[in-house]
Amino acid sequence: MRPKHKSVETRYMEERNEFFQALKSLDRRSFIKVSAAALGAAATRGIVPPTSFQPVRLSALQAGTGSDIYFAYISDSHLYEQDVNDRFVRSLLRAVDDVNQLDPQPDFVLYGGDLAQLGQAKELDLGAQILKGVKAPLRVMVGEHDWYLDLGEKWKSLFGQPTYSWDHKGVHFVTLMSVVEEDFWTVRGMSPMERMKTVAGLDNGVQRPFTVGAEQRQWLQNDLSRFGNDTPLVVFSHSPLYKLYKNWNFWTDDADEVQAILSRFKNVSVIHGHTHQMLTNRIGNIHFHGMLATAWPWPYAPEGMPPLTIQMSRPDPFNPQDGCGDGEVRVHPEGLVDKVYNFWNRNPVTVAREYTVSWGRESLPARPNRPSY
Ligand SMILES: [Fe+2]
Ligand SMILES: [Fe+2]
Repeated sequence: MRPKHKSVETRYMEERNEFFQALKSLDRRSFIKVSAAALGAAATRGIVPPTSFQPVRLSALQAGTGSDIYFAYISDSHLYEQDVNDRFVRSLLRAVDDVNQLDPQPDFVLYGGDLAQLGQAKELDLGAQILKGVKAPLRVMVGEHDWYLDLGEKWKSLFGQPTYSWDHKGVHFVTLMSVVEEDFWTVRGMSPMERMKTVAGLDNGVQRPFTVGAEQRQWLQNDLSRFGNDTPLVVFSHSPLYKLYKNWNFWTDDADEVQAILSRFKNVSVIHGHTHQMLTNRIGNIHFHGMLATAWPWPYAPEGMPPLTIQMSRPDPFNPQDGCGDGEVRVHPEGLVDKVYNFWNRNPVTVAREYTVSWGRESLPARPNRPSY
């Protein structure tokens, strides 16, 4: 005879099984169902503020002139195979749900890289399937966790080439593959998984630093050659296109050369993933903005932090989604951006164009209420 009251654990495992069953056939309609279930499950654990249940989520950005570009981002989901870690799967579903509820809908949604944790086909397939649920047009960037098991074979079969550009409402957009590493694996006789795990461990001394590489720098130079210096330019890179902290690979080794190519433009915005935190920098005319992750927040680098960065509060260790979230970006006609960090467990924080334009003297973003790491 079945017990009248199922234990919490039994109910949890049943609900988890249902969740994974539904994930297997994730069309648009079942996406909405699974996504709502993910939110509901999260709510029962007390980690979703009631405001998340508003049927329409208004953009945190004020309406622009109508010609401004407005896009949303999701980044760094680090999916394992679905039966290994369902928390990260739910977090990505939550982010997709967030961007689908934005009103107005964004011009496009950027995925910022590290969709998978260990570049495995099952991880990338799962991520691609979930991202199909995004209603707005999707642009995808690659991260090192997506790449180093098979050197991009599976990722490219799903998303195409990692380096590309396009024009939208007078702004030129470029997506780079900034996590190119020199071969450190052949001489060591590493298997593909050994290579992948080495790259996934940011602070080991074996792997090489990330680069954009000579080939892509030449591509970038050619791609930009038809544009005058006034052209508004937005560049997406997974790692920050500057040298922040080498020991954790918060670093692009040929950043100086890439910046030299970008520096002739009057206004350049670089939006990057990989660092999983609020991060702001400016080098000359190039304004840099980091993206939040859906999987986990990284601590801040112990040295060399850009002075413009206002650090987000130390995440609550008892709330696995604290410090995570997604975001929105408004691109002004000249190419600079207002950047909104939509934290799941906190008030959103906006880093406005005026803040970086004034070198931090105006429009200060909200200060955190407790220290960062
Ligand atoms: Fe990441
Ligand atoms: Fe990364």
